[in-house]
Amino acid sequence: MKLAVLGAGDVGRSVTDLAGEYGHDVVALADSSSAVIDPAGIDVERALERKVGGDPVGTADPESVFDADYDVLVEATPTTLDDAEPGFSHVRRALEADRHAVLANKGPVAERYDELRTLAADSRGSIRFEATVGGAIPILSTIEDETPQAVTAVRGVLNGTANFILTRMAAEGLDYEHVLAEAQDLGVAEADPTFDVDGTDAALKFVILANVLADGGFSLSDATVEGIQNIPGSALDLAAEDGRTIRLIGEASREGVRVGPRLVPENGALAVTGTRNIVQIETKHAGSLHNSGRGAGGPETATAVLSDVGRLAEL
Ligand code: HSE
Repeated sequence: MKLAVLGAGDVGRSVTDLAGEYGHDVVALADSSSAVIDPAGIDVERALERKVGGDPVGTADPESVFDADYDVLVEATPTTLDDAEPGFSHVRRALEADRHAVLANKGPVAERYDELRTLAADSRGSIRFEATVGGAIPILSTIEDETPQAVTAVRGVLNGTANFILTRMAAEGLDYEHVLAEAQDLGVAEADPTFDVDGTDAALKFVILANVLADGGFSLSDATVEGIQNIPGSALDLAAEDGRTIRLIGEASREGVRVGPRLVPENGALAVTGTRNIVQIETKHAGSLHNSGRGAGGPETATAVLSDVGRLAEL
């Protein structure tokens, strides 16, 4: 497949690096903020190197990426809330041109799912968005294989930064502020980790899951969300005395979305450590399926994007 990649961050760059291994070509790469663009298959590798070095490779109207001869738009610009722009318009543009779109950007799928579905229904193109939920872990494709109607709920840990912080607090008896600073020093947490620690990032992922289960109807404003910022180290000590620990747990079902700190058994499946993610997919007929692994990172998330591209190639 010929890929037009919008977004030259970790995910967009990794998709460009790995596409060839999966048998696909990147024919255009654009960064939505600075409109760095490499239309129609000029030297993408070189363009990336120069972009990484902070030296823009030509500038153009960001929309000119849509002039490239592509099969799939990869939307990997940063997640935005509410109107989910500019990501939503990028996807709309691709679908209106009867092209496929694969999203790593959570905003459009969490905030404007119903509109995306309508646009896709009117297009010869399709949308896929495995990379928006749990990085490398095949969660949406597992639900697709089970069929969404046969899945009653999905629960688990879908934010690696919060999980890292809680793991370190429990292991070292340290307070939240101390471990957050450590996570930022290590590059695990973003310079602005607000959405990771206040539960928004996890909530977006569980809203997307609820939309998949219910075929739409949910956005972030429907979710009940609590973060980990106010958990004292002493709460984790107390939990440990009882063989338990605290994790930022989310749950999505057709009834709604909830995310918040919960007590879980210290040796239980949900007590994953470090930046790992885990989900338990509850099915009507096959019990509980557990998927666990790396929920973030450029190459990890790029594998989910390229898995979606592979499924589109089979249509
Ligand atoms: N910042 C997220 C995490 C990954 O820490 O899990 C991107 O959604």
